[in-house]
Amino acid sequence: MSKPIIIDCDPGIDDALAILLAISSDELDLKLITTCAGNQTSEKITTNALKLVSFVGEEIEVARGAIGPLLHELVLADVAHGESGFGGVELGAPHYSVSSRTALEAMRDTILQSSEKVTIVAIGPLTNVALLIKSYPEVMENIDQLSIMGGACDGGNRTPVAEFNIYVDPDAAKIVFDSGIPITMFGLDVTNKIPMYKEDIDRIRFIGNKTGKAVASMLDFYFRDGRADAMHDPCAVANLIDPSLFTFIPCNVEIETKGEFTRGQTVVDKKERTGKPKNANVAFDVDRERILDLLYNAIEKLK
Ligand code: RIB
Ligand code: CA
Repeated sequence: MSKPIIIDCDPGIDDALAILLAISSDELDLKLITTCAGNQTSEKITTNALKLVSFVGEEIEVARGAIGPLLHELVLADVAHGESGFGGVELGAPHYSVSSRTALEAMRDTILQSSEKVTIVAIGPLTNVALLIKSYPEVMENIDQLSIMGGACDGGNRTPVAEFNIYVDPDAAKIVFDSGIPITMFGLDVTNKIPMYKEDIDRIRFIGNKTGKAVASMLDFYFRDGRADAMHDPCAVANLIDPSLFTFIPCNVEIETKGEFTRGQTVVDKKERTGKPKNANVAFDVDRERILDLLYNAIEKLK
């Protein structure tokens, strides 16, 4: 029986890899895609999600969510993902429209109507997830876990201490990490251990299908200083397919929402100094070769 999942995302080049991994997997049943502004504006990322799913010949509901964080001004990652959000790679027009349901309505209905607990894969800012559990707390008992790409134990990528997804909406992240819902956290500590070099990108490029060519072109845009660090978001999906890929340490994770210089820092108590409850299973290591093989095989299965 395939695992029901929702992907909440801000596509985004690595979001695209995560979505393709989920679509391709027989282990997962991707029920719904919801969008949350982050890498690019709500308009662009929602259109990107529709274009990507159409490109591989699928029609999975895409519901638009938050156009910005709860309290802060929206911060984009346009340098990393480009003006389009997909590094300028054109996937053609979508063959279906955005859902008439809002992201919150679609998430609520999908979760409450599921006979099996649903996993939310959260790979953008956590605004939608926070609003979901605050607006419809009854969904929490039918959520299996939150598989989150975000945060870091040591060091950030948007500031010296904050990772982008958490930095964009730290207040939402605090609501989510304080919710009591089981969390599996894939922070930069593990995602930065999966650089993609030219040979890894060319391996995808020469798969021989149009998806391989499109993904390789996106990775070409993402390529900096001899590597593409594009395996952030796919980690949050890959673990659902093969948990043996990763090594985890249960930790207490607090979110800094007030720091003048530390907004969005995930304070990961890896050494158990606080004695606080361990509210997240934090990934610290990964089998790089095997997760790249998983991605390669997933793309090979698509069009
Ligand atoms: O820090 C990496 C995260 O920020 C990824 O989700 C990427 O898509 C960007 O949103
Ligand atoms: Ca993302």
